[in-house]
Amino acid sequence: MCGIVGYTGTRNVKDILVEGLQKLEYRGYDSAGLAVHNGYLEIVKSKGNIDELRKKVIDMHDGTIGIAHTRWATHGEPSERNSHPHVSFSGDLVMVHNGIIENTDELKSRIKIKGYKCVSDTDTEVLLNYIDYKYQNNGKRILEALQDSLADVVGSYAIVIIEKAHHNRLVICRQGSPLVIGYDETGTYVASDIYALADHTDRFVFPDDGDIVIAGNNGIGEAFTSTGEAKVFCEKRYVIEDRGAGKDGFDHYMLKEIFEQPKIVSELVSGGINFESNIYSAKEIDKILEKIERITILGCGTSWHSGLIGRYIIEKYARIPVNTEYASEYRYRDPVITPGELVISISQSGETADTLAANKLAREAGAVTMGILNVRNSTLERNTDFQLYLKAGAEIGVASTKAYTSQLVIISLLTAYLGRLRGNGDNVSELAFSLQFLSGFMTEALKLSGVIKSIAHKYSVSDNFLFLGRGFNYPSALEGALKLKEISYIHAEGYPGAEMKHGPIALIDYHFPTLAIVTDRENRSKMISNIQEIKARGGKVIAFLSSDDKKTTSLVDDSLVLPSVPDVLSPILTAVPLQLFAYYIAVERECNVDQPRNLAKSVTVE
Ligand code: M6R
Repeated sequence: MCGIVGYTGTRNVKDILVEGLQKLEYRGYDSAGLAVHNGYLEIVKSKGNIDELRKKVIDMHDGTIGIAHTRWATHGEPSERNSHPHVSFSGDLVMVHNGIIENTDELKSRIKIKGYKCVSDTDTEVLLNYIDYKYQNNGKRILEALQDSLADVVGSYAIVIIEKAHHNRLVICRQGSPLVIGYDETGTYVASDIYALADHTDRFVFPDDGDIVIAGNNGIGEAFTSTGEAKVFCEKRYVIEDRGAGKDGFDHYMLKEIFEQPKIVSELVSGGINFESNIYSAKEIDKILEKIERITILGCGTSWHSGLIGRYIIEKYARIPVNTEYASEYRYRDPVITPGELVISISQSGETADTLAANKLAREAGAVTMGILNVRNSTLERNTDFQLYLKAGAEIGVASTKAYTSQLVIISLLTAYLGRLRGNGDNVSELAFSLQFLSGFMTEALKLSGVIKSIAHKYSVSDNFLFLGRGFNYPSALEGALKLKEISYIHAEGYPGAEMKHGPIALIDYHFPTLAIVTDRENRSKMISNIQEIKARGGKVIAFLSSDDKKTTSLVDDSLVLPSVPDVLSPILTAVPLQLFAYYIAVERECNVDQPRNLAKSVTVE
């Protein structure tokens, strides 16, 4: 989380920084700030989004070197005082930071006895002052100061520093948090991701963990590895796809992205499986996949939900054992990793800190690693053996919608591919065949948006919600609940239908509605029993049904009838009304749909 942009060169830096921040706002939007070195250091900050900062920047003097930051708070509330850039105690250094410093207290007490004081509540200022302390002790030589100080730091960081004494160089370091450096004939850029630099250059280098780079107006001046050896970077050229070109007449990006799904699904299905890799040829990948004996799927949030459905689909159709785990748990629980097992990391952004770390752990233990990704040129792309791309286009709404359904389609296609490769062709033929019709059914589901809106209107006053589903649709219940809570701030819980009796049923009363997902045939009768148990206790039930279900409508308070599809595809179809339901409730409650409070699109801290 947090977005960083910096530039040194011959251009006016203010526009580069503000436009860059705007593109990075998905990383955090609590507050923002910007520093320009015009011979002296001029800093502006504002609470809230970039538009607030933009107003203040107009009055700043122009300059040709600067750094900027959009914040997602970790230490200290969102406020101007806590926003970046921070200035060091001596006034010699100004810095922006993305990441979390875990030994802040220890560093703080070390500099406190040297007379250092902090004015903010942030870990960033402590880190900066620690660097400053070493800077003063090393004759104001920044390289030595960083080598001396960063060895004592525990945590993750991407930092960019400007020294008061140097108005044509940026000092750049990273450990665990992403940074990319770009350059053109006018100067050198740095940012948290390449989208912030897409309008300026197609020439990039990617610092590794522990690297320290001193960049001047003509690109990288000096670079060192974590062990102090001089480093030469290999330049990469990327032409960046357009990112989020407007709302196309929709009120919110989220709504636009929900409506884009049929087209994306149709293109994905007709495109089939296309592995990308810098390491293996397509034939080599097939050989690996023919032999794998087990699969682990890793992800966070919505990507974990699609991984859960992936487990159901791959096991049922391709008959390979699958374990799906929260990346954040896997990375710390000392898992048994079998060399040669396939570890699939699912991540829209490819930058989620826990997913990156879990993938790294698996790779180092000898697993074959694969990424299911949307954003190109991500850290996860560089750290996996091969990748499958969602091709969903930029997802701007913080709530994941089209990336989720695309992940499910890719997993379904992968399952069919694995099945055929491993001699289970008959088993997967129904799956492969029915995928072709999915896009049309999603279009039908979108036509129900008026009905969904009126149900949402009726239930928008509820403070709690239970989402129930079974089998393939148990993860759908989790995803429906997540969508609702993240954008409407309603407390919602997702449960497998059968588990309701083991606790959650105690919550049920007239004011605690349940959304029951009954769109798959295999679990229908069992879900109906669960619905009856809720009705017997006075609970309200909304049911999402399929058109071949003639009975359930009469049992529930409100229902939505979706086209009937094979069970395996029902989570993909059901995702559409679940997303719309959350969306319309959030709109009804006047919530900020695209930028919900406390959230960021890409969770780059653990
Ligand atoms: O970029 P990723 O797919 O790795 O992100 C994982 C989660 O942070 C993400 O899915 C999050 O849960 C969404 N905001 C949910 O809508």
